[in-house]
Amino acid sequence: MSDRSQGSAPGGGAPGGAAWSGHDGARAFAAVEGATDRLLGYPFVLRALAGRIGTGQVLVDYGCGPGRVADHAARVLGARVLGVDTSPQMLELARASAPAVAGFHLVENGRVSGLPDGCADAVMCNHVLASLPTEDALLGVFGEIRRLLRPGAPFVLLTTDPACSGTEYASVRIGEPGAAYAPGDEVTVRLLRTDGTWQEMRNHAWPVDLFPELLGRAGFRYVGRHRPTVAEALAVADPDLVAARPWTAERARPPLVVTTAVAE
Ligand SMILES: C[S@@+](CC[C@H](N)C(=O)[O-])C[C@H]1O[C@@H](n2cnc3c(N)ncnc32)[C@H](O)[C@@H]1O
Repeated sequence: MSDRSQGSAPGGGAPGGAAWSGHDGARAFAAVEGATDRLLGYPFVLRALAGRIGTGQVLVDYGCGPGRVADHAARVLGARVLGVDTSPQMLELARASAPAVAGFHLVENGRVSGLPDGCADAVMCNHVLASLPTEDALLGVFGEIRRLLRPGAPFVLLTTDPACSGTEYASVRIGEPGAAYAPGDEVTVRLLRTDGTWQEMRNHAWPVDLFPELLGRAGFRYVGRHRPTVAEALAVADPDLVAARPWTAERARPPLVVTTAVAE
């Protein structure tokens, strides 16, 4: 573990609860700095959605957390963004800090309350799968997202690749150096906080190769996978962020993957 680490014990949520659950989990995620994601993740999710969702159309952010990305997407894409999450505390935080988001819905027993079948013109789902413990849970989330989408609508999924374990990225380290993780294995992820300390979170490893088959079973046509690079980020990410660091590890082995699919 790096000497910069002085974070809390793995979990970041209520004792015994899911990752980022409860008030403590919500506050912990809201304090995550996320430079690597802001460089190689979110801008590419928005790029995948741009041109495929029009002004005023409905974009659901599935597992919206504190709503930062949902709020940004609403402003950039002009879409009517709805944030959904299993955590009432995350939704409470998002309501208070993401004013461009049009509405929020709680996920209860695997179903989004108050949203009918086919109501969404697009769905994005960023860094949610790592919280899920089983393949069945992944299928459940994909199935609920499929229910929300109208046929032909796009789904954009952002995940961290567990094959990139042990590398010290600017704001994240996935697992331990030299370790290999099988599907569903527990993996401790370290995330940089805005105060310079590190938060540890117990996650699950889901190799990106697993997604096409699961998406097919959930009623999607798998479209593709993209691993954004620092060179590409020059054109889509915040120029000040790009210039702020050397991004040595991100250049050598980019750790984020954007998977896209279409609802059948
Ligand atoms: C790591 S945070 C990511 C938040 C946001 N998408 C982002 O990228 O900033 C994961 C979020 O997913 C939510 N979550 C976990 N399991 C979920 C599920 N089965 N359905 C919907 N949301 C879920 C958590 O409550 C948490 O807010």
